[in-house]
Amino acid sequence: MSSDSKFARNILCIGAGYVGGPTMAAIAAKCPQYKVTVVDINESRIAAWNTDHLPIYEPGLLDVVKQARGRNLFFSTDVENAIKEAEIIFVSVNTPTKDFGAGAGKAADLQYWEKTARDIVRVSTSDKIIVEKSTLPVRTAKAMERILNANDKGIHFEVVSNPEFLAEGTAVADLMNPDRVLIGSQLTEAGLKACDVIVEIYANWVPRDRILTTNVWSAELSKLVANAFLAQRISSINSISALCERTEANVSEVARAIGKDSRIGPRFLNASIGFGGSCFKKDILNLVYICESYGLHEVARYWESVVQMNEYQKRRFVQTMIRVMFNTIAGKRIALFGFAFKADTGDTRESPAIDVTKQLVEERARVVITDPQALENAKKDLEGCLSHVEFASDPYAAAKGAHAIAIMTEWEEYKDLDYKKIYSEMEKPAFIFDGRNILDHEALHRIGFNVFPLGRSAWKHF
Ligand code: NAD
Ligand code: UGA
Repeated sequence: MSSDSKFARNILCIGAGYVGGPTMAAIAAKCPQYKVTVVDINESRIAAWNTDHLPIYEPGLLDVVKQARGRNLFFSTDVENAIKEAEIIFVSVNTPTKDFGAGAGKAADLQYWEKTARDIVRVSTSDKIIVEKSTLPVRTAKAMERILNANDKGIHFEVVSNPEFLAEGTAVADLMNPDRVLIGSQLTEAGLKACDVIVEIYANWVPRDRILTTNVWSAELSKLVANAFLAQRISSINSISALCERTEANVSEVARAIGKDSRIGPRFLNASIGFGGSCFKKDILNLVYICESYGLHEVARYWESVVQMNEYQKRRFVQTMIRVMFNTIAGKRIALFGFAFKADTGDTRESPAIDVTKQLVEERARVVITDPQALENAKKDLEGCLSHVEFASDPYAAAKGAHAIAIMTEWEEYKDLDYKKIYSEMEKPAFIFDGRNILDHEALHRIGFNVFPLGRSAWKHF
């Protein structure tokens, strides 16, 4: 029983970001018998979680939060008291790529995670289960157990790994109906008991056969490997998009043809300007670093090539723009439709649009960015080059007077714009570079556009 006897358990999550907020909202909504508290050192983030303007844009999330907030879901900045009260602590702080010292540019920066562990030891007065929700290098649980259990208060901490597989934009659906929940623990009596406690939470709504239990190292490593395999599929299809452009094959037809093979499967085969998001690149580089540290250099090079292919795809996209626009884009107005790293999110972390914008600015183009959710983040990402970039919430205004439009994000609304009107207000010849292959290229060509899809033949008037 929890210290707060109204509730069967007292669960805490440290870190109220893209993972901590939605994950805990889902647990609280599905388990009214538990008290769920989410804390963060970022006061404005916590304040926003307590309003109807949540700090992240995620379809359906506000409804889930509203079901539980104030009933059994609480957002707070009082980290210390929340730690004292909790019996289960999920830690969902950021684990970015280290940008200093040994392993800079590849290894995970574990300073936020370790600081949390030390906060937990300092203020705890009772035994606790600590759940790794953040994505961490394999074998982090060992280091954490050492830090946590090096206390002289006689308190025991059991570390369990429960990595999160939600994708942004579909977080609510992913949490409500996950492909699987993964829980790794030590195979000792205490470890297995802690594992059962976490299984019991998810079993409130996830079928038992989708709750996988493993040893703690397999759970930690599986998270990195899942992201590496997903990113590898995108780099694979993107590499083929380059070949399609040279051979008159159509990358969408190739993807459909190979995806019909049940061993390959149809999902995650959309060619793009490259994958973005806060995790694919960081997690693969972390995997590369771990392999290197074990002397597995061939394995490291293999996975590193997935990131290299992604960089190539972003560069290739801009090079095509320059080449077809008569080898110069200096002074030309180029409208970027979309800045988020994918549709249905305002998140721009590692968005390919950041690199594309910077390359266009280097070529002295005049860039105009439009996006339904991500303009605030875009302004922060482009702090160094704001004098060369404009922002417009209306795509028609962004395209007015432009020489070219480039589709960066696959927002539904970009499919249904009045492209005749847009064409009439653009400089001629007018170009569209469809970095997501979402538009009707033939119809755009009939309007008068020169259309350059990815991995498919261009539709040109010259
Ligand atoms: P985020 O940056 O959105 O959120 C992390 C939060 O932790 C921030 O609000 C920060 O203020 C808070 N924090 C940091 N140190 C703290 C401390 N000492 N005490 C209290 N709060 C602290 O990050 P995120 O996107 O939610 O990712 C969190 C983890 O989950 C990462 O390891 C990431 O790899 C992993 N992950 C992310 C996603 C995703 O879709 N974003 C999906 C799966 C896994
Ligand atoms: C990804 C994984 O899908 C999640 O399982 C994982 O939990 C998460 O990373 C994480 O660890 O952070 P996310 O980055 O939110 O989720 O979004 P994805 O749908 O995976 O898309 C990632 C990038 O790949 C986006 O830029 C997207 O546009 C791109 N993508 C995706 C393609 O270019 N082609 C595709 O076919 C699919």
